[in-house]
Amino acid sequence: MNPSSSFYIETVGCQMNVLDSEIAAASLVRAGLKQVDDTKQADVILFNTCSIRQHAEDKIYSALGRLKHWKTDVKPSGVIGVMGCMAQKDQGLIFRRAPFVDFILGPGSLDELAKTVLRFIEEKNSGCAAEPVMLLGLNRCSNRNVDVAESFRLFDPLRLSEVRPNPYQAMVRIMFGCDKFCTYCIVPSVRGPEQSRPPKDIIDEVKILAGQGVKEITLIGQTVNFYNYNEDGKTVHLTDLLYRLSEIDELRRIRFVSNYPTGITDDLLQAVRDLPKVMEHIHVPAQSGSDSVLKRMKRQYTLSEYKEMLDRIYETIPNVSVTSDFIVGFCGETDDEFEATADLVRYGRFKNSFIFKFSERPGTKAAELYTDDVSDEVKRLRNNALLDIQNGTSLELNRQFIGQMKTILVEGVSKRYDDGTVQLSGRTPCDRIVVFDSPDETPVGKILDSVIENAAPFTLFGDIKSGG
Ligand code: SAH
Ligand code: SF4
Ligand code: F3S
Repeated sequence: MNPSSSFYIETVGCQMNVLDSEIAAASLVRAGLKQVDDTKQADVILFNTCSIRQHAEDKIYSALGRLKHWKTDVKPSGVIGVMGCMAQKDQGLIFRRAPFVDFILGPGSLDELAKTVLRFIEEKNSGCAAEPVMLLGLNRCSNRNVDVAESFRLFDPLRLSEVRPNPYQAMVRIMFGCDKFCTYCIVPSVRGPEQSRPPKDIIDEVKILAGQGVKEITLIGQTVNFYNYNEDGKTVHLTDLLYRLSEIDELRRIRFVSNYPTGITDDLLQAVRDLPKVMEHIHVPAQSGSDSVLKRMKRQYTLSEYKEMLDRIYETIPNVSVTSDFIVGFCGETDDEFEATADLVRYGRFKNSFIFKFSERPGTKAAELYTDDVSDEVKRLRNNALLDIQNGTSLELNRQFIGQMKTILVEGVSKRYDDGTVQLSGRTPCDRIVVFDSPDETPVGKILDSVIENAAPFTLFGDIKSGG
C-alpha cells in the first residue's frame, strides 16, 4: 500500500451513523491510512449514508454526482465507497446512478471496510482494473443474524481516541437493528433484526473509553430501553446495565437514546433517579398525538398511554427533561388529527422536539397501504406550527433556570473573540447547552458549576463558579 494514502468520510444520518463513521475512521487509521477533512487531499472518499427521508438520499446522490469527474480529472487511482443505510437499501442502484463508485458496504459488514479499502488501493496502485464489489451482510430474509452480530463484535471495539470528535464524550452501541416496524420507517429493513450486545462487551468497551479520558458516554440503540441479553438464564435489561456501568470509577456521566414509549418501566425511571451518574434526560418520541394516526403508524401505544408515561417520568425524576420526535403530514392526517398532535406538544412540556415532514419510503408498509396525500404546503405549515409551540415551551422552561446553579460538562469552544478569549459550551445533566465566556480553553473537559444568567430557547448563558 502507498503509506501516505488518505481518506475522507462524509456522514449524514443519526447517531448510529456518526458512531459508525468514527469507528470506520479508527479501523482505517489502524490499517495505516490518514484521515483528512477535505476531498481534495483524499485518495479514498467514503459516504456514510442515511435513508430515513428522501432528502437525506438526495443529498448523497448529488454529492456523488459532484464527484463524477474526480477520478477522470483529479485522481485516477482514487477509491469511492458508499456505506450506511442507503447502501443497504439501494444496493446495485447506486452503481447504476454512479458507475464510478468502487464498493458498496452495508451496516452489517462494517468489519470488512478496512480490508476492502486496502484491497482497492493495492489493485489500483498496481494498475489492475478493480472490479466493483457489494458487501451486504445484512439481510433480514437470509437469517444471518449471527454474522451481523459477529461483524459488530469485531468492529465496535476498534475505538481510537485520536479520531473521536470529542475526547471527553463517546457513544457506545448497545443494540443494533429494530423489530418495531413502524409503518413509515425504513430502519428495520436497512439495519436488520434487533439484537443486543453482550453486557461484558459493552462494559469492557466503556472501561477502555473511560481509561482514555472519556467522562460521558451515550448508550445508543434504535429502541435502547428494549435492550435485553440472556446471561446465565437471566435477562439483563437496560436498568441492569446502568447499575453496572455506574460502578466504573473514572466514568462520570451516562446517557441513553432512543427510547420507545412502551418500555419506559418504573425500574428504569428509578435507576435514572437513583444513580447519580445517569443523567436526567429521556428522549422518547411520540410521533403523533392522535390515536388514529398512531394506529396507522403501528406505534404500539395510545395517546393516553403516552401521557400516562410522561406523567410517570415527571413524577419519578426531579429536574428531568423529556424530548420527543414528531412526524407531520403522515398519510391521511386530517386537521383534527394534527390538532391532537399540537395538543400533545403543548401538554408534553418537552425540552425540545425534533419535527419531521413525512417522507414516503419505498418498501415500507405505509408506502404499500396508504397514500402520501398531505400536500407539501400543508406539511410545511404543520411543521412550522409545531415548531412555534415547541419554541415557546423551550424558552419558558429555559427561563426557569435563570439564577440557578447547574453542573455542566464543558464540551468545547463555541466562539473565539478578537481579544483571544473564548466562549465555551457545556451541557447540563438535563441536556441543556450552557455557554459562558472564559479567558482560555482550560475548562474544556471539566465538570463545573455554572450560574445561569440568561436564557434563549436552545441556549442558557452562564458564568463559572467552581471547578471539579
Ligand atoms: N429509533 C428511533 C429513531 C428513528 S429515526 C426511534 O424510534 O425513536 C428518527 C426519527 O425520524 C423518528 O423518530 C421519526 O420521527 C423520524 N422518521 C422516521 N421515518 C420517517 C419518515 N419516513 N418520514 C419522516 N420522518 C421519519
Ligand atoms: Fe423506526 Fe419505529 Fe424502529 Fe424507531 S422504533 S427505528 S421509528 S421502526
Ligand atoms: Fe438514517 Fe440509518 Fe440512522 S436510515 S436515521 S442513518 S439508522
